[in-house]
Amino acid sequence: MSGLRDGEQAAGAAAGAPAGGVATLLAGTRVCICGGSGGVGKTTTSAAIATGMAARGLKVCVVTIDPAQRLANALGLDALGNDPHRVDPAAFTAAGLDLGDGELWALQLDAKRTFDDLIERLAPDARTREEILSNRIYRELSGAVAGSQEFTAIAKLHDLAATAEFDLLVLDTPPSRNALDFLDAPDRLTQFFEGRALQALLRGWAGPGLGMRLLGRSTGLALGVLKRVTGVDLLTDLSTFFRLLGGLMEGFRARAEQVDALLRDPGTRFLLVTSPEREPIDEAIYFHRKLKAARMGFGGGIVNRVHADQLGDEDAGELIARLVDEAGLSRPLARRVAACFADEHALAVRDRENVALLAARLGPSVPLLLIPHLDDDVHDAEGLVRIGGHLFA
Ligand SMILES: Nc1ncnc2c1ncn2[C@@H]1O[C@H](COP(=O)(O)OP(=O)(O)OP(=O)(O)O)[C@@H](O)[C@H]1O
Ligand SMILES: [Mg+2]
Repeated sequence: MSGLRDGEQAAGAAAGAPAGGVATLLAGTRVCICGGSGGVGKTTTSAAIATGMAARGLKVCVVTIDPAQRLANALGLDALGNDPHRVDPAAFTAAGLDLGDGELWALQLDAKRTFDDLIERLAPDARTREEILSNRIYRELSGAVAGSQEFTAIAKLHDLAATAEFDLLVLDTPPSRNALDFLDAPDRLTQFFEGRALQALLRGWAGPGLGMRLLGRSTGLALGVLKRVTGVDLLTDLSTFFRLLGGLMEGFRARAEQVDALLRDPGTRFLLVTSPEREPIDEAIYFHRKLKAARMGFGGGIVNRVHADQLGDEDAGELIARLVDEAGLSRPLARRVAACFADEHALAVRDRENVALLAARLGPSVPLLLIPHLDDDVHDAEGLVRIGGHLFA
């Protein structure tokens, strides 16, 4: 894969990474989940991994979640839709990466739509489906649950895996303060449909210990007044909600089990994305421990946005003299350049220490791939190819 620029390789050199980089880590993988803290580069690396694997001849689909607008445009995701569509390979060819026989497909997760699709599939008939989808309580709650995105992402992944249309699925994960949220997704799915979310809501609303049928007299009265004044019949909505969902319970449980099985399948592998700052590194260490405890497949770590050390051991005074003598810079300009190098040096030293900490905590058998901090945001085919150059080195 082409696309490396001068100076990028220094920061991008991998610590204990296998030859072939991420392609080697993903050998035999059908589902790759890129997890990590917020803002570390999950969406970017997912897209770059999918692109690079497509260039290796696979039919790959990347499921992105809220990509930055320009990246969405680059992947042709500006059109609405919750289904995969094929990315035009021309932009990648122009950026120096030939996808050959490989195919890159992409979709932008629509959490609410995915959730509704799930209901549609599980509802026994068209009437029940319509009743649920138009139920006020369902609409409120599904919006809130789908809004968390974690389990809709995995539900979508499950649907795509079931079609067996792709050689590899790459899942970006939602911006989440807690990288582990989506591991609980199947559980939360079940809890939602067991009505626990609603029970909790009712407890807050009508006092402790009150389920639907036991709604307090005062609440019942209040709802009655509400109905008379506004025409909003929440009580009927609530009982309809429970009646309809009750009928779907078995289907949901089975689905949650399938989703859980997919997460634990030997063909599913997690890649842990982090930046070299201390907090995300600490989260990555914690996340790795949890994955291990849950016996989930782990592919390796990706440290993104690692700063290159352009100054190295050189003394700032020597650098200034060199910039003046050899590059012909004025002394004030040379001083400013040297100051920038010194700042980068400090960041590079910090990054090195944090990466060393991560490597030590994850253990020698866990491969780590490093991606340098690029000058620009990664928002187009060229940027993805550059990132891929490091991942697949
Ligand atoms: N190696 C890099 N060098 C420079 N910029 C980068 C690099 N990797 C990612 N970026 C930029 O950093 C920003 C965050 O990246 P990205 O959206 O991939 O993170 P994320 O983990 O998906 O964030 P969120 O948790 O919000 O979903 C984007 O603007 C992206 O272009
Ligand atoms: Mg993202």
